[in-house]
Amino acid sequence: MRRIAVIPGDGIGVEVTGAARQVLDAVARRHGLRLAYEEYDWSCQRYLAEGAMMPPDGLDRLRPADAILLGAVGWPGVADHVSLWGLLIPIRRTFRQYVNLRPIRVLPGVESPVRGARPGEVDLVVVRENVEGEYSEIGGRLHRGDPAELAVQEAVFTRVGVSRIVDYAFTLARTRRSYVTSATKSNGIVHTMPFWDEIVAERAAGYPDVRWDAEHIDALAAKLVLQPERFDVIVGSNLFGDILSDLAAAVAGSIGIAPSANLDPTGTFPSMFEPVHGSAPDIAGQGVANPLGAVWSAALMLDHLGAPAAAADVVGAIETCLRDSATRTRDLGGTATTREVVDALLDRLR
Ligand code: NAI
Ligand code: MG
Repeated sequence: MRRIAVIPGDGIGVEVTGAARQVLDAVARRHGLRLAYEEYDWSCQRYLAEGAMMPPDGLDRLRPADAILLGAVGWPGVADHVSLWGLLIPIRRTFRQYVNLRPIRVLPGVESPVRGARPGEVDLVVVRENVEGEYSEIGGRLHRGDPAELAVQEAVFTRVGVSRIVDYAFTLARTRRSYVTSATKSNGIVHTMPFWDEIVAERAAGYPDVRWDAEHIDALAAKLVLQPERFDVIVGSNLFGDILSDLAAAVAGSIGIAPSANLDPTGTFPSMFEPVHGSAPDIAGQGVANPLGAVWSAALMLDHLGAPAAAADVVGAIETCLRDSATRTRDLGGTATTREVVDALLDRLR
């Protein structure tokens, strides 16, 4: 029995997690897996009604779960930093989900806005450090409202934090094309980035079978657009990984299909799986959201829960679905509804 905490969140988060659950149920039947869900209504709606995104004991309630499946949070009328720091960031940090994993593939049937990015050729993973780095709470503001006002935000890099994310990237590369690219900026950021570079080189020595290089983040951004097929595993700090993963998801063709995982590789705490997209208030409630980002995230979850064959089946169903223009949603130039895409996936998994 695997216990899955489901947090649909806001807007299309509710629609796409509902879709993902149906697909999970179908694949679970096929593979004899037992999944038990506990659903939580933590969201901006809850914030508006009760003054908090989740209850005070929210994290304790999630702790016994084997995994967390999240839709998206955010809604007009609630500041985005409230929804992010009131739910997602506490989950990522408390549960030491120090890896943010974003697989990026240009799948047949999806047109990339990048001319050179052909289906089947672009297949990379961005490994983003998820709990330290530039997104720290250390810092502050002085002399508010005064012409001399100032703000300071400290970037925090630890030997333990950098080592474990780099190790994760190299270990992952061994299961793929054995090539790691480290995102850096040691020419401009003179303390933390040379430290990052040193640790990457140290750790890399332990993986002599894995080829690696380092690129400054600005040049890397350009190369990701010009030669996306060249990359296998890209590892970066919290900020660099954040930017690169959205850039790479855009190269892949649609934010609607991009999945992500927030992992505690030690298995001490539950890991969290969520589509890259947000709550999309502009299309919420219309039944037209692309559910594939959430469904692919659910496949990452199955893999993490030790059911790789079930995960592969779900990804196979996604690929079949995208090949047929009749089962592509509006964001991919099609006309299919969320329901029609889910039906196509279920057909395939039966
Ligand atoms: P968004 O990803 O919600 O939407 C951007 C655009 O992409 C919109 O035009 C939307 O209609 C479209 N889109 C997104 N997902 C889609 C899907 N599955 N199918 C079809 N079209 C899709 O990003 P936006 O507009 O910047 O943010 C909206 C809210 O979501 C904000 O409150 C933001 O803070 C929140 N957000 C939450 C995230 C999370 O929970 N992890 C991540 C990103 C944004
Ligand atoms: Mg981002």
